Amino acid sequence: MTDIDYMRLALDLAERGHATVRPNPMVGAVAVQHGRILGQGYHLAPGQPHAEVYALEHVAAGTPDVTLYVTLEPCSHTGRTPPCADLLIRKGVARVVCALVDPDPRVSGRGIERLRAAGIEVTVGVLEADARRLNEVYVKHRTTGLPFVTLKLAETLDGYIATAPGDSKWISSAASRSRAHGLRAEVDAILVGIRTVLADDPELSVRHVEGRNPVKLVLDSRLRIPTDARIFQGAPLVVATTEDVPKARQRDVEAAGAKVWRAPSADGRPILRQVLVRAAAEGLLHVLIEGGGAVAASALEAGLVDRVAVFIAPRILGGGVSAVDGLGISRMADAIQLDEVLVERIEDDLFYTARVKTSRIKGRESRARSSRESRARSSRESRVESRELEAVESRESRDKR
Ligand SMILES: NC(=O)c1ccc[n+]([C@@H]2O[C@H](COP(=O)([O-])OP(=O)(O)OC[C@H]3O[C@@H](n4cnc5c(N)ncnc54)[C@H](OP(=O)(O)O)[C@@H]3O)[C@@H](O)[C@H]2O)c1
Repeated sequence: MTDIDYMRLALDLAERGHATVRPNPMVGAVAVQHGRILGQGYHLAPGQPHAEVYALEHVAAGTPDVTLYVTLEPCSHTGRTPPCADLLIRKGVARVVCALVDPDPRVSGRGIERLRAAGIEVTVGVLEADARRLNEVYVKHRTTGLPFVTLKLAETLDGYIATAPGDSKWISSAASRSRAHGLRAEVDAILVGIRTVLADDPELSVRHVEGRNPVKLVLDSRLRIPTDARIFQGAPLVVATTEDVPKARQRDVEAAGAKVWRAPSADGRPILRQVLVRAAAEGLLHVLIEGGGAVAASALEAGLVDRVAVFIAPRILGGGVSAVDGLGISRMADAIQLDEVLVERIEDDLFYTARVKTSRIKGRESRARSSRESRARSSRESRVESRELEAVESRESRDKR
């Protein structure tokens, strides 16, 4: 077997930590002597031993000619566990082959330096692209200070996520909705706009599959969120708002059980990038944006989306809430480009996933939307808003009774 074969095995091992390892990276390791595997392992969960510890568990110190294959640079700092570089040196490993330099600024080449300084031969970059892809969430977080963002939508064949009055239950099949719950189980937070909360009163929990419930994040410029909304139940709720909302309203929302983040604003709305920077700083590495159309547009426009996951159902509405509401792109050449497209059929729905290729809209035209488009949008918003107001008023009068 070659370096590549052993590294492939180490990557396969790493992937076994997929469901449990967050917020740590997935790491696998294999110890080899003269073509014989002496040990192997992977990092299972935060606080648990690193992959290198398992791979070397039964290798006596001083065993000659041991090569350790590891998918990520061995750490050089003391976290919840001692530095792995020191373990490799103590064991007298002869050679280390690693796929990826750890992008974490606390490591970032220092582990490799330490090994080389101790006389260990180090080869870096074997199956690097695969290792980077395996840990794309971790790599994005450590290199940009932003979470990895997946935009999930369920839309009709003609691109609507709800009818004009806001009815969206249900667009896709039960099997697609289970799959969507699977996406939720893989992320640290779900983010929606306040209009989705007002229209759907969603729980945003993982119900149709096994898995942990992510934190819920709502963008709400004026703290309109009803304090009896279902979203207050279950996993922690964060409402991101502007600096200008009254303190008393913040206290009410906090008293109902949510955290309130005040973020810098533009056009009276919290700036999504700032909210995501804060989310990343709080350890939320992977955020699933679940709509609605306005939030999807904000995220795409700001170049914040890494992947899209879209359920396309065999229904046609001919109008309603657009999946991505108004990017103001007038030339096809400026469309946001996607690649690495995968299409799967789930019953009669299509499940379409792709990576966002262009990171930011060229020649941003959002502020110069055609007047027709913005008129259409504002009349839709005011129609929906008056219905929302009626709903809040009727809820409040019900509460008073
Ligand atoms: N089929 C699906 O997959 C799906 C998923 C989700 C929602 N939906 C449907 O979509 C509809 C809601 O979508 P929508 O487009 O009307 O609204 P939305 O995207 O849910 O919420 C938009 C609102 O969020 C607030 N907001 C605060 N900061 C923002 C920012 N930086 N960027 C964008 N918005 C920000 C704004 O209201 P304030 O300024 O007042 O805060 C804005 O009007 C509902 O009918 C729902 O049923 C469908």
